[in-house]
Amino acid sequence: MTDISASGTFEIGGDLPVRRLGFGAMQLTGPGVWGEPADRDEALRVLRRAVELGVTFVDTADSYGPFVSEELIAEALHPYAEDLVVATKGGLTRTGPNVWLPVGRPEYLRQCVEMSLRRLKLERIDLYQLHRIDPKVPLEEQLGVLRDMRDEGKIRHIGLSEVSVEEIGRARAIVEIATVQNLYNLTERKSQDVLEYCEREGIGFIPWFPLATGQLAAPGGVLAAAAERHGATPAQLALAWLLRRSPVMLPIPGTSKVAHLEENLAGAGIELSEDEVAELTALG
Ligand SMILES: NC(=O)c1ccc[n+]([C@@H]2O[C@H](COP(=O)([O-])OP(=O)(O)OC[C@H]3O[C@@H](n4cnc5c(N)ncnc54)[C@H](OP(=O)(O)O)[C@@H]3O)[C@@H](O)[C@H]2O)c1
Repeated sequence: MTDISASGTFEIGGDLPVRRLGFGAMQLTGPGVWGEPADRDEALRVLRRAVELGVTFVDTADSYGPFVSEELIAEALHPYAEDLVVATKGGLTRTGPNVWLPVGRPEYLRQCVEMSLRRLKLERIDLYQLHRIDPKVPLEEQLGVLRDMRDEGKIRHIGLSEVSVEEIGRARAIVEIATVQNLYNLTERKSQDVLEYCEREGIGFIPWFPLATGQLAAPGGVLAAAAERHGATPAQLALAWLLRRSPVMLPIPGTSKVAHLEENLAGAGIELSEDEVAELTALG
């Protein structure tokens, strides 16, 4: 029986508790994160099952689809459970499959927040993440408008995505930053310095591509032998390793299938020995 409370709890911004193992809703769209998913009913089932199994942290973005992922979340889950945190993002525009272009002009970001509120049927977004810093726009303007919208009560906490330690420092001079979402998994740890900074500062670290887009879940991959010895699946080991890596780690594995979701969430209850942790760490 899956008990995702075994993943522990983290308080985003010091006052917003979530179970550490969450769900990433980017896979609930068409190829290239564009358009509707191949199986819309299964996408709705995935979202409902995630919450049923105890997920309280769902990550999305206006650009997933675009709009499709947010709309599915509202359709499947609204009215939301009291303890459910739906985190979204804005600031990346879409002009086609796999095309992502940052636009950080404050009037555009204001519209992004307003439209996410409408699509998600929320009065306030618990965690709003600037999807990318737009190098063409002063950071003060991009985060300034999110700070204003927080002060207006439309955003509760602000997060960043794909940033360096130096950028987080600059951002925090403008507004409080509750989370950072960077690429990180067993085999890709370029953001190790950012993770360590977040841990020191009590900032939530949301590793995207926690399963290396499925490579770490595949049979016969780097985790296959260790998984077999533990009596778990490779995906479960990859997630258990992440959860063990830091108390501020909030993995958001994505899937379009209920069976994979159930498998992944069972990773919350896996206890790795010190030797296993060392072995997995060395594998990466
Ligand atoms: N901030 C950013 O810039 C950024 C960028 C990318 C992603 N993200 C966020 O990170 C989340 C996670 O990323 P992701 O979903 O792309 O990658 P991921 O979690 O690393 O891997 C998802 C992929 O693995 C497959 N998979 C999942 N569980 C599996 C299992 N048990 N067995 C076999 N295959 C499995 C999925 O295919 P199936 O559908 O077939 O299960 C899917 O293709 C996204 O949903 C999104 O919220 C953020």
